[in-house]
Amino acid sequence: MSAQIMLEDMARKYAILAVRADKEGKVEDAINYYKKAIEVLSQIIVLYPESVARTAYEQMINEYKKRISYLEKILPASVNSEDNERNVEDVIITEKPKITFNDIVGLEDVKEALREAIIYPTKRPDLFPLGWPRGILLYGPPGCGKTMIAAAVANEIDSIFIQLDAASVMSKWLGEAEKNVANIFKMAREESKKQNKPAIIFIDELDALLGVYSTEVGGEARVRNQFLKEMDGLLDKSENYRVYVIGATNKPWRLDEPFLRRFQKRIYVKLPDYEQRLALFKYYVSKIKLANDVSLEELARLTEGYTASDIRDIVQAAHIKVVKEMFKNNLSEPRPITMQDFKEILKVRMPSVNPELIKAYEAWTEKFKAL
Ligand SMILES: Nc1ncnc2c1ncn2[C@@H]1O[C@H](COP(=O)(O)OP(=O)(O)OP(=O)(O)O)[C@@H](O)[C@H]1O
Ligand SMILES: [Mg+2]
Repeated sequence: MSAQIMLEDMARKYAILAVRADKEGKVEDAINYYKKAIEVLSQIIVLYPESVARTAYEQMINEYKKRISYLEKILPASVNSEDNERNVEDVIITEKPKITFNDIVGLEDVKEALREAIIYPTKRPDLFPLGWPRGILLYGPPGCGKTMIAAAVANEIDSIFIQLDAASVMSKWLGEAEKNVANIFKMAREESKKQNKPAIIFIDELDALLGVYSTEVGGEARVRNQFLKEMDGLLDKSENYRVYVIGATNKPWRLDEPFLRRFQKRIYVKLPDYEQRLALFKYYVSKIKLANDVSLEELARLTEGYTASDIRDIVQAAHIKVVKEMFKNNLSEPRPITMQDFKEILKVRMPSVNPELIKAYEAWTEKFKAL
C-alpha cells in the first residue's frame, strides 16, 4: 500500500468514527475524531499537493471544521472551559486572504456595489457630507460566493482586514464575547488611523450573533447590543472613521430590525444565471481534458437552479470519475471527459438549494433590499 493510500484510509476511519459519535450525541468524541481526520487530511495535502482529490480533501476539512465549531457551541461550558482563556487573537484573522475579484466568476454587480460602497467614500470623504453606509450585508443561498467575495474586497483595496466567524465568537468567547466585540472595533479604529487606511471587519455567518445556541443564557443579547452600539460608533461624524463592517449570511430573515438598520447596504448574492453558469463551467474545466462532444452551453442550460459550488462539484466529480477509471484500467492518463459523463453525474446530483428557499430569498429581497 502506498503511503498516500494508507493516510487516506486513516482519514476515512477517523471520519467514520466522528460521524458515528456525532450521531450518537457523543459530542466530545466527535470533535476529537473530526480533528484527527482534519489532521490526516491536511497531512495528505502537504505531502501530495498534486493529488487529484485535493479539492475534495479541502472541502472535507472545511466541512469538518464547520461541524466542530457547531459542536463546540453545544458543548457544556464546563467541558471547554479552557477556551475561556482564549482571547481576541484566536477568533480573528488579520492576515489578508489571497483571493481577488478575478478569482470570482461573475457577480459583477456585487463587485461594483462593493467598490462603490467602500472605495469612493474612502477616496473622497469630502463628497459625502451626509456620511455614508458603514455596514454592508451580503445575503443569499449557500455556495454562491458570499464568503469569497467579502474576502476578496480586502485585496481590491489596500485595507486592514479583520475577519471573524460569528459562530466561533459565540462559542469560544463565552462570557468574554461582549468585551471582545468592543476590542475588535477598537482595534479596527486605531489601526485604521495609525496606518491611514480603511479597515474592514468581516463577520461571516452574521446571523449567529443573534444565535439561539449560545452557551450562556442571555449572552447573545448582550453581544448583540454591544455590536449595535459599536456600529453606531462608526458613524460618529467628528471622527470620520474609515471602518466598514461586511456581514455575510444565508439566513437574512434571522436578523431583526435594529440589526438590519445598521446594515444600510444590503446586497443579494444570487444563484448564478445562464451566463454565469457558463462562465463557471469554463473556469472550472480550464484545467481538465474534455472530449469534443462536450457543450458547455448545454451544461449551463441543464444546470438552472444549481449553485456556483454545485457546478464546481459537478466538474470535480466528472474529473474524479475518469481518474478512477484510469487507475482501475491501469492507464497512464485519464481519458477526456465526455458529455455522457456529465449527464450521468447530473442525473444523481440535484441542486443543493431548493426552489422554495430561493423564493424565500426573493421575498426577503422585495421587503428589505437596499442597494
Ligand atoms: N462566483 C464564484 N466563482 C467561482 N467559484 C465560486 C463562486 N461562488 C462559489 N464558488 C465556489 O463555491 C465555494 C463556496 O463559496 P462560498 O463559501 O463563497 O459560498 P457562500 O455563499 O459563502 O456560502 P455559505 O452561505 O454556505 O457560507 C467556493 O469556495 C468556490 O469554490
Ligand atoms: Mg460563506
